[in-house]
Amino acid sequence: MAKLRHSRLQAKKLSTVTLVLSMLFMLTVVLLMLLGLGIFSLPINSDDSPPTDLTSYRRMASERGKGLGKRGQQWTEVLSWEPRAYIYHNFLSREECEYLINLAKPHMAKSTVVDSKTGKSKDSRVRTSSGMFLRRGQDKIIKDIEKRIADYTFIPVEHGEGLQVLHYEVGQKYDAHFDYFLDEFNTKNGGQRMATVLMYLSDVEEGGETIFPAAKGNVSAVPWWNELSECGKQGLAVKPKMGDALLFWSMRPDATLDPSSLHGGCPNTRFKLLYRGCRAKEL
Ligand SMILES: *[C@@H]1O[C@H](CO)[C@@H](O)[C@H](O)[C@H]1NC(C)=O
Repeated sequence: MAKLRHSRLQAKKLSTVTLVLSMLFMLTVVLLMLLGLGIFSLPINSDDSPPTDLTSYRRMASERGKGLGKRGQQWTEVLSWEPRAYIYHNFLSREECEYLINLAKPHMAKSTVVDSKTGKSKDSRVRTSSGMFLRRGQDKIIKDIEKRIADYTFIPVEHGEGLQVLHYEVGQKYDAHFDYFLDEFNTKNGGQRMATVLMYLSDVEEGGETIFPAAKGNVSAVPWWNELSECGKQGLAVKPKMGDALLFWSMRPDATLDPSSLHGGCPNTRFKLLYRGCRAKEL
């Protein structure tokens, strides 16, 4: 008798357990159905730009600031480690290049160089181009290019000088020089320059190369060696190509000046856009 009661009790306990389990199961099924139908969602980061998801970051980066026109395929290559120099292909679109040239054309004035004694601008025979400065963030297109440069160089927009459009006529050139300052006036007024980005706004049939005469390594190993002018063969050379950008650092990573960043422009007609970055103070 006692045994019977015991087993009945057990059966009752068992049915309670079964009931609870089946209720839990039902609840799960209902939850899954709701999830499936999208009525209910679990509070986990899914697609709304979680900060660690690289695919969404890339998507954001490519959607942000499309700029003017459509850019060709973009890729970068290392030109040299001494100086630290890199080429970014199709950094600007054709439309952006044309826009900049048309913007600058009516305002071109003879280029000057910085006097190392007084820190003032002066006329010079070593630089025979003409050019004009654009105001920083002057319009939407300029702003967009400045942002693109900041993204590429990791130098914040506020630490850059205004963009400068330069025009070299036939035979005009810029002898080899450093972009860093050797005078106290300029170093104090805004700080030392760290890096330069040169953007080529026009194609050149022959010549017009940017050369680094003090670059270390085998300068004739570049794939475009045979297309270079005589001047271009005097150092590590970059052939101007519309839309391409050349980034080089005037400082080493330990903030010492890098003399291998010595560079010049070979003669021929071309337009280019010049950016110089990292002044410690705003200009
Ligand atoms: C430099 O590179 C070129 C082309 O790759 C090669 O023919 C030449 O022998 C190299 N010169 C030296 C000194 O390594």
